[in-house]
Amino acid sequence: MGPWLLLAACCLWAGLGSARLTCNYPPHLWCSSREIAGACQVEQLCAMRAAPKASPVSVQLYYESLCPGCRGFLVTQLFPTWIMLNEILNITLVPYGNAKETKVEGKWQFECQHGQEECKGNLMEACLIHLLEDLGLYFPVIFCMESGSDVTANLPLCLKIYAPEVSLANITACVNGDLGNQLMHQNAQRTTALKPPHRYVPWIVINGKHTESLQSLAMEALFRLVCNLYQGELPSACQGHPQAPDSPSPQNNCLRD
Ligand SMILES: *[C@@H]1O[C@H](CO)[C@@H](O)[C@H](O)[C@H]1NC(C)=O
Ligand SMILES: *[C@@H]1O[C@H](CO)[C@@H](O)[C@H](O)[C@H]1NC(C)=O
Repeated sequence: MGPWLLLAACCLWAGLGSARLTCNYPPHLWCSSREIAGACQVEQLCAMRAAPKASPVSVQLYYESLCPGCRGFLVTQLFPTWIMLNEILNITLVPYGNAKETKVEGKWQFECQHGQEECKGNLMEACLIHLLEDLGLYFPVIFCMESGSDVTANLPLCLKIYAPEVSLANITACVNGDLGNQLMHQNAQRTTALKPPHRYVPWIVINGKHTESLQSLAMEALFRLVCNLYQGELPSACQGHPQAPDSPSPQNNCLRD
């Protein structure tokens, strides 16, 4: 029993209706319990101190659907880290990578580093991101596509497993129509606006910044990087003995030509 309990018992017993505990604690302890905060008359301040949650760690991935390094990072680092730390992560996926665009008769045409099949994969993923809206819905579908052997052929099965309420026809209509064309053009613009400009993919931007050191920390162990960067109270996953997932080999990066 702490001294304040004894005090409380004494004073209530003494019939003092508005009895207060004595604030005989150093200020750094004032917010350590509701009772002490009450005794020191800082309840409101302590509530405010606890309220603002730290902003999530932002991870933006600029990638292309068939680049082995992109697939490796997405499947072995980004997705598992998101599963474990989703409440402190803000993930943005931008499929486009080292593609090139030209405007032909009012429509954008794309040329992709790994051929038309890659352009199709990029389009499918851009359409999934746009139509499903919620990362919790589209990320598992994209993860599923990227982890199988044939990225584009995986779409129907991956939809069936992870987003059975979404119609394949709607995704296909987006991929083949103006919407997909516009979405891919937007991704091209977002990619060319990168500062510094990307030199390879996967190109990782952490909290708005790309540096070689952040990139290699992310490629080695994104999980640890996110736990280290988060400013708020750490989720229990960070406090355990995080087994960093296997890192993809950096030689799998796809250089911009
Ligand atoms: C997540 O990041 C995007 C930009 O990448 C930003 O617009 C958005 O506000 C961020 N969301 C949160 C909750 O921080
Ligand atoms: C598919 O598209 C149609 C027409 O745009 C829309 O009415 C329908 O809600 C969509 N279905 C799904 C499952 O998204």
